[in-house]
This record gives sequence, structure tokens and C-alpha cells, in this order.
Amino acid sequence: MSQVLIAPSMLAADFGNLQRDVEMINNSEADWFHIDVMDGHFVPNISYGMPVIEAMKKHATKPLDVHLMIEKPERYIEEFANVGADIITVHHESTVHLHRTLTQIEDAGCKAGVVLNLTTPVSVLEDILPKCFMVLIMSINPGFGGQKFEEITYQKVRKLRAMIDEQGLDTLIEIDGGVTNNNAQKLKEAGANVLVAGSYIFRAENPTNTIANLRQSLV
Ligand code: DX5
Ligand code: ZN
Repeated sequence: MSQVLIAPSMLAADFGNLQRDVEMINNSEADWFHIDVMDGHFVPNISYGMPVIEAMKKHATKPLDVHLMIEKPERYIEEFANVGADIITVHHESTVHLHRTLTQIEDAGCKAGVVLNLTTPVSVLEDILPKCFMVLIMSINPGFGGQKFEEITYQKVRKLRAMIDEQGLDTLIEIDGGVTNNNAQKLKEAGANVLVAGSYIFRAENPTNTIANLRQSLV
């Protein structure tokens, strides 16, 4: 399998120094920007929306991976595409007509992905998998950074990896929540392709080195 991608979560960035933090990621070994949009309904927290993403896009030299934690995301797909999203993921639990929403994302020129909450089984994706550029498996209850990684994630990743291989697909598996150098390698071994990390990177004394160390912890 090719190299695991690292996607720092900008939720943990310093919003007063957003350009500085975007440039830090540009100059680091990270691969994507992970951008968490929260509406205060689907998850208890509210983060940021289109204007802030547009501001990040102005400086970012790497793809924007936009994780929508909002109810009825189909209402806003084109707007997120217009402000610079490259990948848009929507929660399985947030949209009734998932196939239509994924088509909307593709039609807007973005790669489409589905996110599963901790307790949503990977089996719900069996029929829609060929349409998924990526599946994001939450390893925490979404809404906040800095939470503890939940161990049930490993078995979900292994099951999803088996489903993807069985169907002969190249769908990526992304993990989000509580990722550190303590679980990164084990997640890779379970079949993960993309690791999101927020507080682990931005709360470190030297975020650039922490990204490099995370990369080195993956053998
Ligand atoms: C939480 C978000 C995550 C969050 C991860 O709902 O989806 O992307 O920023 O933060 P850490 O890595 O601190 O758990
Ligand atoms: Zn996220």
C-alpha cells in the first residue's frame, strides 16, 4: 500500500494566526488540510464556515479536505466547492438521500466521501462504496478536538478494508479523532490510508517536527 497521508485538523490551529498556521502546513510533510465544519445541530459545537475556508484557500498549497458535520449538508455543497474544497465528506447520519448528495459533490467538481459516526456500522456502506472516493471513520464522537481515541475503531477499519478489497476498489479510509504516534502505525496496519490529527499536532511545541515524527512513526 502506498504511503499514509497526514491531514492536520485546522480546528486546532490558532485562528488569530491562521495564515501562519496554513503556511506551516504548506511547508511541512503533511498532505492535506482537514477542515471541520460544525453547525451546532448535527454536533453540539459550532466551528467556522465558508468565509474562513475561503481565507485558508488563499494561502493553502495542498488540498482542502472538508468534513461537514452539519444537518442536511446537501443545502451547501456548491458553496463549499466554490470557496475551494477539494474533497467533501458528509455524514451518513446527516443526509437522507446519500447517493444524491454524493452526486452533488461530484457535479460540483470535488471528490466525495462518507463519514461514519462511532456506532454506525461499516456495513451500511456496502452498496454505495463504489461511489466513495473516501470513507472517514470517526474514532471519537464528533464535535470537539482533543478527545480520547476509541479502540472500537480498529475493528471497523479492518472490516471496511475487507469490504473495499473484496469489491476491488481503491476507496481511501480516513481516521479522525485522537490520532497520535501511539495509534498511527496500528491504524495503518488495520488498513487506514489517511490520518487526521488536530491537537496532537497543534498543541505540540514544534508542530512541523511533530508532523515529521508522525510520518516517521509509520513504517
Ligand atoms: C472532531 C473533528 C476532528 C478534530 C480532531 O469532530 O472532526 O477533525 O479536529 O481533533 P483531535 O485530533 O484533537 O482529536
Ligand atoms: Zn474532522
